[in-house]
Amino acid sequence: MPDDRRTLETREPADETVEPPESFVEQANVSEESVLECFEEGRQGWERAAELLDWRDGYDAVFDEDSNAWLPGGSLNVSENCLDRHVDDGRGDARALVWEGQAGETRTYSYDELLREVNATAASLRSLGVEENDIVTLYMPMVPELPVAMLACARIGAPHVVVFTGYSAEALAERMRESGSSVLFTCDGYYRGGDAISLRNRAETVRVSVPWEVTTVIVDRFGSVDAGTGASDYAYDSLVEEHAGASVEPVERDSNDELFYIYTSGTTGEPKRVTHTTGGYLSHAAWTSHAVLDIKPDDTYWCSADIGWITGHTYVVYGPLALGTTVLLDEGASDFTSRSKPWKTIEEYGVDIFYTSPSAIRKFMKWGEEYPAAHDLSSLRLLGTVGEPINPRAWRWFYEHVGDEDCPVVDTWWQTETGGHLITTLPGVHDMKPGAAGFPLPGVDAEVVDAEGGRVEPGTGGYLTITKPWLGMPRELSTRERWAEHGDDEPPDLSEFEHAYFTEDSAFVDEDGYVTVIGRVDDVIKVSGHRFGTMEIESAIADVEGVAEAAVVDGRRDGQRVMDAYVSPSDGSLREDEVRGAVLKAVEEKIGSFARPDRVVFTSELPKTTSGKTVRRLLTEIASDEEPGDTSVLRNPEIVGEIRSSLRDE
Ligand code: WT7
Repeated sequence: MPDDRRTLETREPADETVEPPESFVEQANVSEESVLECFEEGRQGWERAAELLDWRDGYDAVFDEDSNAWLPGGSLNVSENCLDRHVDDGRGDARALVWEGQAGETRTYSYDELLREVNATAASLRSLGVEENDIVTLYMPMVPELPVAMLACARIGAPHVVVFTGYSAEALAERMRESGSSVLFTCDGYYRGGDAISLRNRAETVRVSVPWEVTTVIVDRFGSVDAGTGASDYAYDSLVEEHAGASVEPVERDSNDELFYIYTSGTTGEPKRVTHTTGGYLSHAAWTSHAVLDIKPDDTYWCSADIGWITGHTYVVYGPLALGTTVLLDEGASDFTSRSKPWKTIEEYGVDIFYTSPSAIRKFMKWGEEYPAAHDLSSLRLLGTVGEPINPRAWRWFYEHVGDEDCPVVDTWWQTETGGHLITTLPGVHDMKPGAAGFPLPGVDAEVVDAEGGRVEPGTGGYLTITKPWLGMPRELSTRERWAEHGDDEPPDLSEFEHAYFTEDSAFVDEDGYVTVIGRVDDVIKVSGHRFGTMEIESAIADVEGVAEAAVVDGRRDGQRVMDAYVSPSDGSLREDEVRGAVLKAVEEKIGSFARPDRVVFTSELPKTTSGKTVRRLLTEIASDEEPGDTSVLRNPEIVGEIRSSLRDE
């Protein structure tokens, strides 16, 4: 982790606060300060979250200090909490899922119907030999069969691994090998931004790249499933049809049993496994869906994230369904290629809550306010954003032109590792501050510290650290003595804290206690809300013939985060356009086309210090069309000018 990537400078704190509308506060799930008080006496407060669920066996304690485990002794089943109990409460006819396909087709599942489909899928999984604790991989786009398969896995206690369909076959196979999974659910293809993308070949690749037999179940999206079905292939429809009417008793799982793995990018070249648990995770998901997103059973709720990411796991599937609401699933949403579509969707379905990303909001803003203005968005009650910092201007735009100044906007800070929200405002309690995420949630302790681990003054940037265990924390943290995620010799020094998780983000706290997140300080970059380990991309590029070395950085151009790859060739005789093509192809094959750099820039050398470290800060500045700063640390300062003039010539 080179020091020069650590961006601790303070951003301009927002100087205004915005009160949530009274009409919102009056009906909010959480509007009493007293709710916050019950968290003040330690971890007991989190019981409010656990109480939102139905337990088979009650937990012995909220948190066990010795084992670092939440809700020990408790047992429950996640699919029972998301389905059966709503049906038992007489809400079987209420809509659970409303799906809109890219080609305009729609499908609706009531809670009754969803339960039936989950039962048949769970029985199908069993018929394939899947047992409790077997790992099932779900490489599926935004179709109803994905949440169905997740809930079916949860029903029989088989942890799932959802792999975003933007990932390549190689990346999929790598995740199956790492997790030891031999069952794969996929689709023949899907639609993205108007293009039909085939997944068939990718499932074939898995067969050769995973050193054990893989059973594949294929959902028919293009009507091409029967053709070429191999011996260990099953067509989803006929398999599930065979088990129609089955009833599968939900398996009783311990609070700390695994619910799923999700792979994310860390600072090594390999994907990093994050394991979420059954009791703590689901309680956290349900509680934050209730307290932050203000979800109610009668709402129509829309989160535009792809289920392949943690946001989709927690806030498309588990949190909202645990609360028994209506979830809108839009196949084309995460790309937002049509200017009117989002607003048409909100109008048509009477969406109450819309949760999206700053990069989508910046896109809407660029397209213009006339698009939302042309639709009746008065059904909206709450707006939310997640994934990266939102600048005050984009926040304001969203608040005014989408929310009509009548909906609170929650800026929710969290990570794949945290499972659910940790820092945000509670919309029924707090004033909002555009640009600042808000406060650590009740029960969450966050500190911004300097390199020595000391708390910094208000307004000063530092390392954002969580200093108490939280309900949705992953297994990787509860099984570790101390939870520093980074090497011990790296700043910040957290040895004085009993518990400390370093988020790898920098942030500052202002005089009023609002946390403003600045960004990552490690070698992980966020582009369009996607998280990429620069190492992962760089090692894919370094494998290309003719490449000596590569550095991948993010920058901001035209208000959008972009990714640049700086490549130094090993062999000057090769043609740049050929190497460029090979670089892009390598990234596409190793990781996926969504990880393609926006620009591949050739340079005879990378900017290096005398000790040979690449100075990424300068490349970030170049990527952002900024005047590069101090080059005095460089062994080869002339290189900066060279790169800039080659870019000017383009
Ligand atoms: C990183 C985590 C959380 C689900 C989606 C992303 C950045 C996330 C915010 C926010 C500023 C944010 C951080 C964090 N981030 N939300 N509201 N304000 N930054 O999950 O891919 O694990 O990425 O996203 O840098 O560390 P992820």
